[in-house]
Amino acid sequence: MGYRVLLLGSGGREHALAWKIAQSPKLDKLFIAPGNAGTSSVGENVAIKADDFDQIRKLCLTESVNMVVVGPENPLVKGIYDYFKGDPELAGIPVIGPSAAGAALEGSKDFAKGFMQRHGIPTAAYRTFTPETVQQGKEFLRTLNAPYVLKADGLCAGKGVLILDSVDEAERELEQMLGGMFGQASSRVVIEEFMSGIECSVFALTDGKDYVILPEAKDYKRIGEGDTGLNTGGMGSVSPVPFADREWMQKVEERIVRPTVDGLKAEGIEYRGFIFFGLINVDGNPKVIEYNVRMGDPETETVMLRIKSDIMDLFEGVATGTLAARKIEFDPRSAVCVMLVSGGYPGNYDKGFEISGIEDVRGSIVFHAGTAVRDNRVVTDGGRVIAVSSYGLNLGEALEKSMGEAAKISFEGKYFRRDIGQDL
Ligand code: AMP
Ligand code: GLY
Repeated sequence: MGYRVLLLGSGGREHALAWKIAQSPKLDKLFIAPGNAGTSSVGENVAIKADDFDQIRKLCLTESVNMVVVGPENPLVKGIYDYFKGDPELAGIPVIGPSAAGAALEGSKDFAKGFMQRHGIPTAAYRTFTPETVQQGKEFLRTLNAPYVLKADGLCAGKGVLILDSVDEAERELEQMLGGMFGQASSRVVIEEFMSGIECSVFALTDGKDYVILPEAKDYKRIGEGDTGLNTGGMGSVSPVPFADREWMQKVEERIVRPTVDGLKAEGIEYRGFIFFGLINVDGNPKVIEYNVRMGDPETETVMLRIKSDIMDLFEGVATGTLAARKIEFDPRSAVCVMLVSGGYPGNYDKGFEISGIEDVRGSIVFHAGTAVRDNRVVTDGGRVIAVSSYGLNLGEALEKSMGEAAKISFEGKYFRRDIGQDL
């Protein structure tokens, strides 16, 4: 019997996952909830929010879903894994994603830092403060050198990290954060040492005992070329990352990936899913900036291109605890993703503009991010609208393809960075 998969989420990451899942001979049927205008070309969209557990339950039962793959962090942090496990009718359906206890690696910065400390995983020195200890927090800031890194403990949709140049500013922001700037999410604040280096995203898929490491990627977070301007959800990505050579990746595996998987197991935390290691290369040594408990976006839009193996075979290994017996094979080509975004993003922007030219794209793979169908037309429906992903014999060739094809797609206010991968 083939797999009847429900994939949760609606972004470019989910379109890329859906595209890869849809290529599997083990797949019988793919549902995406809620999906976007692109995912409907590789599966069936269902109008259910990714964290509406009761509606998800109903769909799984009526459509005989036999595997759930979770794209974004929200349902995981809210405990979808545990929800399935605790329901007699759903307990037999594997969820690819960690338990809520495991999702705390992303849902609580304080938990993640404590976990790394317990398991000797290299990361920035830190301390955590609460409204009661704001004074000690200020004193701690005075012992550090600029710049100062402040992180809200909880999920803040990527906005919870502040990096400040002056200690006065850092004290003020600390007070504001602990005073409720991000609501409950900043009722605890992690202050940590600033690390300087190039960042790299590494991904593993684990069944709780064993793991496979997926192709690494680098994402480009700033809105402006040359890494300037405001932070975004991500303006593009590349894979492979040249400095992440065999020797560096070996350090990553020995010092970070294996101790993380072993640490989760030792602490009795159920984890069957993706682990995203946000790393920074400090003088040749990888250190962890953050964990995420899902794939990255827009990293997935290049990483999926570079996985040659059947991803459903890997998911099956995760679900049945037999990942050690599965192999992951990489595509040796390079992959690049260029994100087309709405004018004004990451600030205010309008939605609902018609998108044209997608059908003219030949040399690249188009993944929809923020799109929707209105009156039979594909329109913009978010800040990040479309990811143009390409293969190349090297990054330069892939980038050139994405740039050429990106020019064919139009919508009012379209913007993209032309310098993705140029720094490498
Ligand atoms: P995070 O949400 O933890 O990924 O943080 C957002 C961004 O802030 C990261 O991608 C880094 O660019 C930067 N950042 C976070 N922590 C540090 C740190 N300790 N040192 C330097 N940069 C950091
Ligand atoms: N690209 C970074 C993230 O997905 O969090």
